[in-house]
Amino acid sequence: MRITEEELFQLMETKFLKAGLNKRDAHYMSDVLTFADARGIHSHGAVRVEYYVERIVKKGITREPHFEFTKNSSSVGIFEADNGSGQAAAALAMEKAVEMAKETGVSVVGIRHMSHSGALGYFTELAARNQMIGISMCQSDPMVVPYGGAEAYYGTNPIAFSAPANNGEVITFDMATSVQAWGKILDKRSRAESIPDNWGVDKEGKPTTDPYKVNALLPIAGPKGYGLMMMVDILSGILLGLPFGKHVSSMYEDLSKGRDLGQLHIVIDPSFFTNIQRFTETVSQSMEELQGVKPAESFEKVYYPGEIMKLKREEYLENGIELVDNIYDYLISDKLHHNQYDHKNKFAE
Ligand code: NAI
Repeated sequence: MRITEEELFQLMETKFLKAGLNKRDAHYMSDVLTFADARGIHSHGAVRVEYYVERIVKKGITREPHFEFTKNSSSVGIFEADNGSGQAAAALAMEKAVEMAKETGVSVVGIRHMSHSGALGYFTELAARNQMIGISMCQSDPMVVPYGGAEAYYGTNPIAFSAPANNGEVITFDMATSVQAWGKILDKRSRAESIPDNWGVDKEGKPTTDPYKVNALLPIAGPKGYGLMMMVDILSGILLGLPFGKHVSSMYEDLSKGRDLGQLHIVIDPSFFTNIQRFTETVSQSMEELQGVKPAESFEKVYYPGEIMKLKREEYLENGIELVDNIYDYLISDKLHHNQYDHKNKFAE
């Protein structure tokens, strides 16, 4: 079925408020999830609402968190999130990072003890809409093997980057550092289909095409994705004094506990480096040049990073966001949750 952005936002916000979350955080959670669905990133949209609601009800997401921001220097800040909504903490921390970068040209803000924050592009685009370059990365549940390993150590540790272009446009790159999300493995199981041999490994660490044999996921580009995961883990975990690597909490383990996750924002004000107009014009020029690159055989065209999401949003604004029926049914129902996520599976993202 199809639904407008406004309706989707309202339905999600109503659920979070009913679960007991405060108004500010319910707003940010709904906004980040709507952002994802409105760009076709359905893995991080409304599909997550019931899980978050169950966690809010069970107090694993603090309903009235005490957020505290401390400036350790003119360009370094720490945002203590009290295991409140990751979306609210990451958005508010990005606002602080933008303010600081306006003064000094660059800022680095770490968010400590937060809950899952969803699609990271939301936060980096917040920086880009303020004429800044935004970079963000965060920890997630350990479910990916280090290159050559037979057991999981890192999470799917995502990285996002946004830069401002001309006329309010932005360019965004936003990805997990694993080849595929765990959800895609579950999807293949439900369809009784095999998977490509570069998605996951079995208990012995051997690549498998059987979705039922997958015991851990594989990093993108072998040792290179593994290296990126390590970087994300150090910058958003160890640097912030938080659990790291295999010690990071799992999404579905105990919904009554806070997740104690970490995230790091880096913001750069291009005007401290170059003329801002020249910068945005040149970013736009490079986006156009990428679109003009001759496509390879079997490709229709070359998209700049994030373009497919932008096109999806334009289509959805015209025709409504595509939403799976049972998710809509849940959103309009009176039921808060079906007690189905607690201790469900060690894998999630
Ligand atoms: P994806 O694989 O769908 O896309 C990755 C990137 O590639 C995007 O920037 C996309 O615009 C670009 N892209 C895709 N196809 C393209 C094409 N044909 N041409 C040019 N660019 C193209 O994203 P992925 O890795 O599945 O991540 C989805 C979301 O999940 C992200 O928003 C990420 O932040 C989020 N995530 C969040 C986690 C968390 O713990 N908070 C953990 C893992 C992912």
